[in-house]
Parts: sequence; C-alpha cells; structure tokens
Amino acid sequence: MINKNVETALNEQARKEEFSARLYLAMAIWCEVNGYPGAASFLYDHADEERMHQMKIIHYINERGGMAALYELAALKTEFNSLEDIFTQVLAHEEFITNSINELYGLTMAEKDYTTGNFLQWYITEQVEEESTMRTILDKIKLVGKDKAGMFHVDKELEAMAQSNAAGNV
Ligand code: FEO
Repeated sequence: MINKNVETALNEQARKEEFSARLYLAMAIWCEVNGYPGAASFLYDHADEERMHQMKIIHYINERGGMAALYELAALKTEFNSLEDIFTQVLAHEEFITNSINELYGLTMAEKDYTTGNFLQWYITEQVEEESTMRTILDKIKLVGKDKAGMFHVDKELEAMAQSNAAGNV
C-alpha cells in the first residue's frame, strides 16, 4: 500500500505534468498560427509527452493500491510574444518541474518509500534530457536573433526533431 503523503505528492506531480501538457499545447497553437509550423509540431509532440508523464504517475499510484486524483488546473496564459519568449518560458517551466521531482524524491527518501524513489529515477533522468534539449533550442533562437532566414532554419530543425521523436529516435 502506498504511503499517503507520497500518494498526495505524486498526485500533485501528475497535476503539474497535466498542466505542462496544456501549457505546451497553448504554445503549439500560438506557433501554428504565427508562422512557425516546425515549432508547433515540436510542441504538440511535447504536449503528448507530458500527458504520458502524467499517465505513468496515474498508473503507478493505482497499481500501488492508491487512487489517482485529478486536481484543478491553474488558468493558462495563451498570448506569447515570440519564439524566444516561448522557449524561455519552456526552459523555466522545465526547471520548475525538475525542482518539483527532486523534492518529491526527497519526500520518498524521508518516508522510506524506496519503491517510489526507484520509480522516480526515470523522471530524474528525463528532466536532465528535457532541460538540455530546451536550453539548446533557446540558445539557437537567441543566436539567430531577428534574422528571418536563421529563424526559418531553426523552425525546420524543430520540425526534424519532432519527426525524429515521432519515429522513436529520441
Ligand atoms: Fe514532464 Fe517536461 O517534464
């Protein structure tokens, strides 16, 4: 039977993953209608990944004899200024998620719930990858600045990353 404090904290983490999916969906929509089809594909794809992160937690809680809960989501901002603005926010959000996972891991250790700690290892590794990917993208966007041709290429690269992800290569 899963520890109650850990179950509550896991449900809270699942809520954050669900919020992430919604946030990236809003960003993808903005990109799609503002001439960045590659960034849109990448973010639609990433929204799906966040949903998968949420689902993994839901199944884990239920399999351990707990019960997954769906919490209310915070209101979402849907206006963005630029691709740089979007990926700045994505990176900041991923850093927030990393902190949240680390705190959750700390709780499992304090509660001596080593099984859940083991389950969270996957998320810890995933966050290293996600932060690194988002930082690389943001660096490229900053590098091209206002150069339209450069931005076009960054968008193409994001499209390629989304396709590669869909093909299971990432
Ligand atoms: Fe589920 Fe992007 O962290």
